[in-house]
Amino acid sequence: MVNHRIKHISIIMDGNGRWAGERNMNRSYGHRKGIEAVKKIINACLVRQITSLTLFAFSSENWIRPGNEVKLLMSLFRESITNNINALHENNIHVKFVGDLSKFDKSLIYHMKDLENLTHDNDGMNLNFAVNYGGKWDIAQSVNKYLNKNNFNSKSEISVSDIEENLTFYKNHPDLLIRTGGEKRLSNFMLWQHAYTELYFTDCLWPDFNEHELDNAIRFFHSRNRKFGGLRAVHQIENNDK
Ligand code: IPE
Ligand code: IPE
Ligand code: MG
Repeated sequence: MVNHRIKHISIIMDGNGRWAGERNMNRSYGHRKGIEAVKKIINACLVRQITSLTLFAFSSENWIRPGNEVKLLMSLFRESITNNINALHENNIHVKFVGDLSKFDKSLIYHMKDLENLTHDNDGMNLNFAVNYGGKWDIAQSVNKYLNKNNFNSKSEISVSDIEENLTFYKNHPDLLIRTGGEKRLSNFMLWQHAYTELYFTDCLWPDFNEHELDNAIRFFHSRNRKFGGLRAVHQIENNDK
C-alpha cells in the first residue's frame, strides 16, 4: 500500500436540518450548530497541516428551499464572516469563495471580498467556501472563460486541459471527499474535480462532526490504494487526476 499525504479535503456538510429535527428544534438551530462544527474542523485541519480545505456551504440548488431558510443562511454567512475574519487572518489562512457570487446581495459580496482581500497574501492553509456552487455551473463557466479568452474561434475542439485550466480549482483537486448526513451522492459538488477523489460517507450529521470523525475519514483515506487507472498503487500524481 502506498501512503499519500492528504493535501486537499473537500466536505459536503450535510445534516443540519435533521440534527435539529431530532431535538425538536427548527432547522435554523441546526445551521447555527453547523457553524460551530465548521470552526472545529478548520482548526483540526490546521493542526493536521492539510494544505486545502473546501467546504460546500450552499449549492446552486439550495435556492429552492423556503425563503426564510435561505434568508437565514445568508445572514449566518454574513455573521460568520464578521465574527471570524480576524481569527482566520491571524491563523494565516487564505480564504476564497468559489461559486457564482453574482447571485448574492451586494453587502454579502462585500463581506466575502473583504475576507478574501485581507487574507489574500496568507500562505497557510487554503480555505475555500463553495457558495452558490454547482459542478455543472463550474464546467460551463470554464468553457465560457476559455471561449472569451480565445475570441470564440481559436480552434474547433475544446480539450480536457482547456476546460481544466479554467475551472475553479486548477491542479489542486480533492484527495478525500467527506459527506456527512448519510446520503451517498455528490449533489452537484465539483463533478470534474472529484474524478479520482477517495469518497468517504458517514451517517454522522454535520453538527456532530468533530476531530475524531475527521481522523476516521483520514484513516479510511490511508487504507486506500490510489491507482488513477493503472494497475499499481502510485504516489500522488501532479494533478491528482488525469
Ligand atoms: C446542510 O444541511 C446545509 C446546507 C445545505 C446549507 P441541510 O440543511 O441539508 O440538512 P438536512 O440534510 O436537511 O438534514
Ligand atoms: C448538499 O446538501 C449541499 C450542501 C451541503 C451545501 P443538500 O442537502 O442540498 O443535498 P441533497 O438535496 O440532499 O442532495
Ligand atoms: Mg441536506
